Amino acid sequence: MTEHIEVLPDRAALVDRAFALTIDSIHAAIDARGRAVLALAGGSTPKPIYEKLSACVLPWDQIYIFWGDERYVPVDHPDSNAGMAKQAWLDHVAIPESNIFITPTLGNDPAADADRFNTQIADFFTPARGAMPVFDLIMLGMGDDGHTASLFPHTAALDVTDRYATLGEKSGEPRLTLTFPVLQHAHTILMTIAGSNKQTALTHIFAETCDDREYPSRRLRQATGELWWLLDAEAAISPSV
Ligand code: 6PG
Repeated sequence: MTEHIEVLPDRAALVDRAFALTIDSIHAAIDARGRAVLALAGGSTPKPIYEKLSACVLPWDQIYIFWGDERYVPVDHPDSNAGMAKQAWLDHVAIPESNIFITPTLGNDPAADADRFNTQIADFFTPARGAMPVFDLIMLGMGDDGHTASLFPHTAALDVTDRYATLGEKSGEPRLTLTFPVLQHAHTILMTIAGSNKQTALTHIFAETCDDREYPSRRLRQATGELWWLLDAEAAISPSV
C-alpha cells in the first residue's frame, strides 16, 4: 500500500487536486486495463469535483460508474447520492446509460436492495472464487464521526467481510454500502476531507493506536493499493496530522 497525505490550503485547492488525481487515475486505468471503474461518494465535498468533471472530454464509453454508498431514497430525491452525481456531472456528458450502475433503492426492503447491490457488483466484476472486485478508483468522504461510505461507528456493517455490499445504518435509517474488503482492494482510494469538524476524527485516525470501530475510516489504512488523503487546512489543523 502507498499512502499519501496532502494538506491543501482551502476547499478550492482540494477540489482542484482531487479533480487532477481523478483524471490521472481514469487515464491510468484505461491505459492499463482498457476501462476505468469508479465508485462515487455522496456528501457535499465531492460535488464541485463532479461539476469540474462534467466539463471534461474523456473516453466516456470506457468509464463505468458505481456508488460507494447510497441513502435509501429514490434517485430523484434530493438526498440521493446518485441523483447528486447525475445532476452535477453524469447528465452533462456522453457516458452511455448502460455504463451507470445506480445503486438499487427500488422497493421498501433495504435488505433485499442490499442483496441487489451485492449482485450488481458480482455480475459486473465476476471475481474468481475468493477474489475481490477491484475498482480502479473509489472516491470517498469522511463524516465528523469518522464514518466513510455508509460504514458508521459501531454498526454491524463494519464487520461484513463475506459480501461486497451490505445494509448500513445511520441512526436507525437504512443505507446501502460497499463493505470494507471491497474498499480496501481498490487500485486507488481518494479520500477528500474538508472542514474543521473533521479534526477530531482525523487526530484519532492518524494516532498510533485507535479504536477503528469508533473511527471506521481508520480501516482504509489497511488498503492494498494507493490511498490518498486530501485534507483542507481547516480539517488538518491538529498537532497529530
Ligand atoms: C454520504 C457519504 C458520506 C460522506 C461523508 C462526508 O452519503 O453522505 O456516504 O460518507 O462522504 O459524510 O460528507 P461531507 O462531504 O458532506 O462532509
